[in-house]
Amino acid sequence: MRDDVVGQDSSIISHPTVWKASGHVDHFTDPMVDCKKCKGRWRADQMDSKECPHGGSHELTEPQKFNLMFRTFVGAVEDAASVAYLRPETCQPMFVNFKQIQLVSRQKVPFGIAQIGKAFRNEVNPRNFIFRSREFEQMEMEFFVKPGDAKKWFDFWVQQRFDWYKGLGIRPDKLRLRPHGKDELAHYASMAVDVEYEFPFGWQELEGIAHRGAFDLTQHQQFSGKDLSYFDDAAKEHFVPEVIEPSAGVDRTLLMLLVDAYDVEQIVDEESKKSEERVIMHLSPIVAPIQVGVFPLSKKLGEPAQKLEKALRSEFRTFYDESGAIGRRYRRQDEVGTPFCITVDFQTETDRAVTIRDRDTMSQDRVALDQVSRVLKEKMAAWQRLPNKGTGLAA
Ligand code: GAP
Repeated sequence: MRDDVVGQDSSIISHPTVWKASGHVDHFTDPMVDCKKCKGRWRADQMDSKECPHGGSHELTEPQKFNLMFRTFVGAVEDAASVAYLRPETCQPMFVNFKQIQLVSRQKVPFGIAQIGKAFRNEVNPRNFIFRSREFEQMEMEFFVKPGDAKKWFDFWVQQRFDWYKGLGIRPDKLRLRPHGKDELAHYASMAVDVEYEFPFGWQELEGIAHRGAFDLTQHQQFSGKDLSYFDDAAKEHFVPEVIEPSAGVDRTLLMLLVDAYDVEQIVDEESKKSEERVIMHLSPIVAPIQVGVFPLSKKLGEPAQKLEKALRSEFRTFYDESGAIGRRYRRQDEVGTPFCITVDFQTETDRAVTIRDRDTMSQDRVALDQVSRVLKEKMAAWQRLPNKGTGLAA
């Protein structure tokens, strides 16, 4: 949505020297210890004691560096000269392509290059559903700035990114910013802040915003022998830009959305008036897979209801359902997080109006058919996250 950010979609396998220059071949490692007796392998920096978790009498090796990059071979021969790597982050090709992209997009520093795509890491302990996996999706942006301006842009992007998560409808008390200590900074960063969410398994990183300085462009310049400096027309000077990088995980964002939205409430059913359990996903209309459910009260009203659903399709993510009691249909949409459901009933033909039911409050409004689209847009814009009322995972 910004004038000063352009996109790219790069290859997953790049020249191995790219990963040498970036520091990943030498530094992208976890310290591992092996147990000589049970053959177990453990992350040395995540162990509570110096003993094998399978038994104190077991003997552990000294920590060894284990590289997290997936290796492959390019071409017909599998030898050291044909080794290549699947990208462990999407950002390096944005540095490598910096100059071409800047030239063809005619952007001036400060500007950003952004990319969404798969990244691969041979994680030793993939766990917590899709929180840590070996194949995952990243959204990254490299924002190139004039040296000296970097701290200002770093603070700007930290705030922007924090606000972005809040804008997804996440409960604000479950989000926080955590600056990195000097001892935990990645090899390329001089400053970093994580956006964290309080998952049921504790506070965890969703995204890191890093001040990478001129590290990457300088490294690629050196290893490729190509000039990656920028000429500032106004100041008539050459410089290698510094970089601020917001780096986010799509999978972690999705897991957060599911965990944060899930709730189990005790309610009185709208139709039967009996007390029952309601599973509800309080998803924001921005991210809800279905934004509007459309139901005919009876199958006899299928035709006008389908006509309405088709008319709304170009503006909203819609779903048509005519099977089962209306209360069951509401409940199914509550479970998948549909914020609004429209019911076409026997009065619709005469009063040219339908009922719009709100997922979170279960209140219903009668709305004229020709106003449905406008009212839905207003309701979506005004939507606010209510606190969980029941026993949701993250309650
Ligand atoms: N270019 C910088 C970079 O890659 P990172 O902190 O290693 O930084 C950025 O990764 C984001 O990618 C993390 O905040 C996280 O959301 C996501 N991520 C990293 N490793 C992951 C994994 N194994 N599974 C799922 N997401 C992962």
